[in-house]
Amino acid sequence: MSENRDREIIRIERLTLLVRYISVLLVLIIVSIFVILYLLHQPAAKQQREQVVKAEQTASSLFWIAPDTATITNDSIRKWILLGRAIITNTSDYFGATGTVRKQAINGMNCQNCHLDAGTKIFGNNYGSVYSTYPKYRARSGGIENVHKRINDCFERSLNGLALDTASREMRAIVAYITWLGSGVPKGEKANGSGLKDIRLLTRAADPDKGSVVYINKCQQCHQAGGQGQMNLTKTAFIYPPLWGDQSYNIGAGLYRISTFAKFVKYNMPQGASHTQTQLTDEEAWDVAAFVNSQPRPVKDISRDWPYISEKPMDHPFGPFADDFSETQHKYGPYQPIIDNMKNLKKQTTAKL
Ligand code: HEC
Ligand code: HEC
Repeated sequence: MSENRDREIIRIERLTLLVRYISVLLVLIIVSIFVILYLLHQPAAKQQREQVVKAEQTASSLFWIAPDTATITNDSIRKWILLGRAIITNTSDYFGATGTVRKQAINGMNCQNCHLDAGTKIFGNNYGSVYSTYPKYRARSGGIENVHKRINDCFERSLNGLALDTASREMRAIVAYITWLGSGVPKGEKANGSGLKDIRLLTRAADPDKGSVVYINKCQQCHQAGGQGQMNLTKTAFIYPPLWGDQSYNIGAGLYRISTFAKFVKYNMPQGASHTQTQLTDEEAWDVAAFVNSQPRPVKDISRDWPYISEKPMDHPFGPFADDFSETQHKYGPYQPIIDNMKNLKKQTTAKL
């Protein structure tokens, strides 16, 4: 009897042991499956992470980065560069209505109003490629221009003012600043993200009426209903610069070309927009450019500009032209037929040579 019971106990003990073995084995198998799955997934995740990091690195190294003033070791050079930057930032303090260097020598705007962040913002009309590309041939003057001439172009047109003496302290400071900004860019090369970013052409003409609606909804709150901008309380500088009227850029300025204006606003306006965060569609940018550049502004004698008329850009709004398109089509587009015609003219000339 007792022998039977003992056997029974041994059987039960063996069975329990077996069940224990089996459950431990099961747990082990499940754990290994997870470990294997995790290990299999690991390289992919790592690869993905590496790709993201790489993409971020290329994105930031893709664009020009302005040097840091903290890296200037020579005290006297630093003084010139900082003075240059101050003149770019607060031009009207030096040359505006109550200017410390010369009064009433400009319209009251600052270089920085159009060359954003003291000429360092990516696609904000920055100075990244000025040092590397000047002197260069410019079709507007039909000759080789050095950086002094180019700076004075903006004084006479964008600031609707007087040119600086090339040897003046202020000109030397501006040149020192612009030279230093572009010193990392190899001669002859154009830095990525410098100047302005291209914008797609419309297939129709840019429309000032549509642009007036864009202006009212997206620009007027700062630049004001009459386009006159808004000055600070002491009337020494603009908080919001003017877009037309007596104190705006004149008809010889770069922004008076609708394509230049559209490129500037698409990637920089309303204030806070950037090339990665635009706020206007291409159509809105072109139409508001057409509207603003249909308003009255200072006139400049530009009869000596573009001495070779075949080099006039598609959207230069004043004849005579090398083609038969009207001043209106040159001003507002559509531009593609003008571009195609220009290409044909070039082909014909080269065929004749
Ligand atoms: C009303 C707007 C405006 C103001 C103000 C202005 N500029 Fe300009 N500037 C432009 C535009 C537009 C261009 C041409 C951009 C283009 O066509 O790519 C330009 C071009 C230049 C260039 C040549 C850039 C290049 O890469 O070729 C220099 C240098 C320059 N400006 C200097 C100045 C200086 C210095 C001041 C102040 C004294 C000034 N600008 C004020 C609008 C302005
Ligand atoms: C929130 C205010 C604000 C809005 C809205 C705004 N701007 Fe501006 N805009 C500015 C400021 C400020 C500057 C000068 C930037 C600087 O000095 O840093 C400027 C500069 C400009 C300039 C170059 C300087 C000049 O006066 O010629 C143009 C062109 C321009 N804006 C067009 C527009 C257009 C077009 C719109 C509407 C699509 C617009 N802005 C909406 C604040 C604004």
